[in-house]
Amino acid sequence: MLKKLFSKSKKGKHSLEVEESLVNNECLPSHIAIIMDGNGRWAKKRAMPRIAGHHEGMQTVRRIARIADDVGIKVLTLYAFSTENWKRPKSEVEYLMSLPQMFLNSFMPELMERNIRVEMIGDKDGLPTNTKTALNEAIEKTKNNTGLILNFAMNYGSRAEIVKAMKDIMVEVNNGNLTLDHVDEKTINQFLLTSSLPEPDLLIRTSGEVRLSNFMLWQLAYTEFWFTDILWPDFNKDTFMEAIQAYQQRNRRYGGLKGE
Ligand code: IPE
Ligand code: IPE
Ligand code: MG
Repeated sequence: MLKKLFSKSKKGKHSLEVEESLVNNECLPSHIAIIMDGNGRWAKKRAMPRIAGHHEGMQTVRRIARIADDVGIKVLTLYAFSTENWKRPKSEVEYLMSLPQMFLNSFMPELMERNIRVEMIGDKDGLPTNTKTALNEAIEKTKNNTGLILNFAMNYGSRAEIVKAMKDIMVEVNNGNLTLDHVDEKTINQFLLTSSLPEPDLLIRTSGEVRLSNFMLWQLAYTEFWFTDILWPDFNKDTFMEAIQAYQQRNRRYGGLKGE
């Protein structure tokens, strides 16, 4: 790991600093998922409009993606917009939908330099054209990159994802491509939007809310959870490293007696 961080120092100049604050370089979480919450309250505290909080939250995404890359995390999934967030005022939804374009355009050179691959989970077809195009372009441009996978959960809802997987499985069974006896946990995994990704090892939620809000209900079955009162725009390297350190001190037993 030390070697890896040294060799990456051209791209991540904070590598050594980051490495020093790790408890143990060997048991890093491969996949970190974050419910980025608290943008609205961050803005409210400053008497600013909610969208100012979302703009600031976007800067945090940039910073945390860099650190995740420097540390050597393999997948960073960021919950950016839920299937329930359409309930918000039209102007706020419109702003949130403009963020991928804004973010991906300005961050693209660095994403390429860092060898980061952009991915998304969620109902892409339900997104406005501009948002969809921005995501598609970023996914296409970065598809051969082999470093960190920066996976945005956009118009994502875990229940909708499970419903779709069930329907797709039923179609395969009806077509005779799959028999009922062969439907097991592995089959369900293959039909979820996360089929190509490992399950999250660590889930972080900011802003003091202690709930999942329809996020990765199936995939989080054995994930370690870490909650903080810090609002997403204030989330920084220290908080991120604190979460990783907490993870490294956990004893993952998966129902067994490992580590006893
Ligand atoms: C998270 O911040 C961003 C999205 C859900 C899109 P919020 O907008 O939920 O901020 P709060 O929870 O109102 O503070
Ligand atoms: C969860 O946050 C969704 C995202 C972070 C994108 P919300 O702010 O929408 O969740 P609730 O409404 O507080 O449960
Ligand atoms: Mg919220």
